[in-house]
Amino acid sequence: MSTGDPGFTATAQIHAGYEPQAPHRSVAVPIYQTAAYEFPDYASARSMFALREPGFTYTRTGNPTVAALEQRIAALDGGVAALATATGQAAVAVALLSLARGGQHIVASSKLYGGTVDLLTDTFADFGIEVSFADPLHPDAWRAAVRPTTRAFLTESIGNPLATLQDLPAIATVAHDAGVPLVVDNTLATPALYRPLDLGADIVVYSATKFLGGHGTTLAGAVVDGGRFDFSEYPDKWPQITHPKRRYGGDVLWERHGHGAYLALARSKYLHDLGPSLSPTSAAHILQGLETLDIRVARHGQNTREVVRFLAGHPAVAAVHHPSVQDHPQAELAARDFPRGAGSVFSFDLAADPGQVGAFIDRLRLFKLVANVGDTRSLVAHPAAMTHCRLSPEQRFASGIADTTIRLSVGLETAEDLVADLDLALAPPTASARVDARAVGAVAPAGTGA
Ligand SMILES: Cc1ncc(COP(=O)(O)O)c(C=O)c1O
Repeated sequence: MSTGDPGFTATAQIHAGYEPQAPHRSVAVPIYQTAAYEFPDYASARSMFALREPGFTYTRTGNPTVAALEQRIAALDGGVAALATATGQAAVAVALLSLARGGQHIVASSKLYGGTVDLLTDTFADFGIEVSFADPLHPDAWRAAVRPTTRAFLTESIGNPLATLQDLPAIATVAHDAGVPLVVDNTLATPALYRPLDLGADIVVYSATKFLGGHGTTLAGAVVDGGRFDFSEYPDKWPQITHPKRRYGGDVLWERHGHGAYLALARSKYLHDLGPSLSPTSAAHILQGLETLDIRVARHGQNTREVVRFLAGHPAVAAVHHPSVQDHPQAELAARDFPRGAGSVFSFDLAADPGQVGAFIDRLRLFKLVANVGDTRSLVAHPAAMTHCRLSPEQRFASGIADTTIRLSVGLETAEDLVADLDLALAPPTASARVDARAVGAVAPAGTGA
């Protein structure tokens, strides 16, 4: 791409979007914990409210701490701009609502995070937005799902919970042939492993709650605009961007903002009207997490390799759904597009009766039973009963989630401790062997009541 973008750099994750300013020259991004801003004068207030002059008016639509985070995430992904939101769920909703309205249609991957499926099949259905699900492994299925009313494609770069990958350039081609933008949820990969805009996507969304923040403390989301999709090519498809609007004094967003028009719409309409705004303090937490993103992601990846190797060789495990396992159907794709690894959130199937799942999970000590991923801590979940419990049996089948599927988010602990924890839970030792194991410290760590 001819943006002069140097690609993901560790320098950008520490410096992009912020330059210390006089008088204090605070080295960390200051937390501007304010609801609003004093206008220098009446004329400025008028012109900022009319969106003719840039500037912060009210923290619901913009804040200096949040803006530093937005610019940093945009830089890491090679986008023209980003919008931060209170949660990842809000980021997905705002990204799609800015493209599709009642009576229109979205094509989405059949292998998505359950909360996104709830949004698409329930709340968007209430709004009259229709959704077709297509297998991310078959770009032709996406082509077949396109309708005249289609306004967006949505997929996840690494699917939650089965770590499904896809040929993104092929799906981008289908989207662009249909004249619609491709939105990619890059939550599980992060720009440290994968940059969807470089592979043909137009818009990237995140739950920054996960690896971007990385410490399991703070909810946040982001929408990144690649600025490449030319909405003016299809003016009648996107009246919200290409037609004059009373809301903007009769102006056309595309004429005012050019390739920044999509994000201007998302901010000035959806963030403004619905209000899912990120708090400045939360933005500072995510900024701090971002500073170590690449080294954390590398360590998550190393630990995942150890855990996957162990699980793949265990007789109590029926299948491991991670592209690094031998003969995985997307191993080639992983080698081509994920040279630094295909992430640390994946699933495996127990070779057991579904009734055994609860006992297995309750035997784990280090892997915490938590409805989250992308924490420093290792986490476990049972998608069928938890994150994906509202999917219909057909949707769950299409997602490849069985009743015995267990999702792991591999953390930053010592890999041997994680393997030992899984080993004990998979093959519970006899009472006397358990006492021996504790005596030699095989069950880390003290104080867990294990
Ligand atoms: C891939 C993906 N997208 C979006 C979300 C929603 O993010 P949040 O929980 O921050 O609202 C999640 C949450 O688990 C997720 O895994």
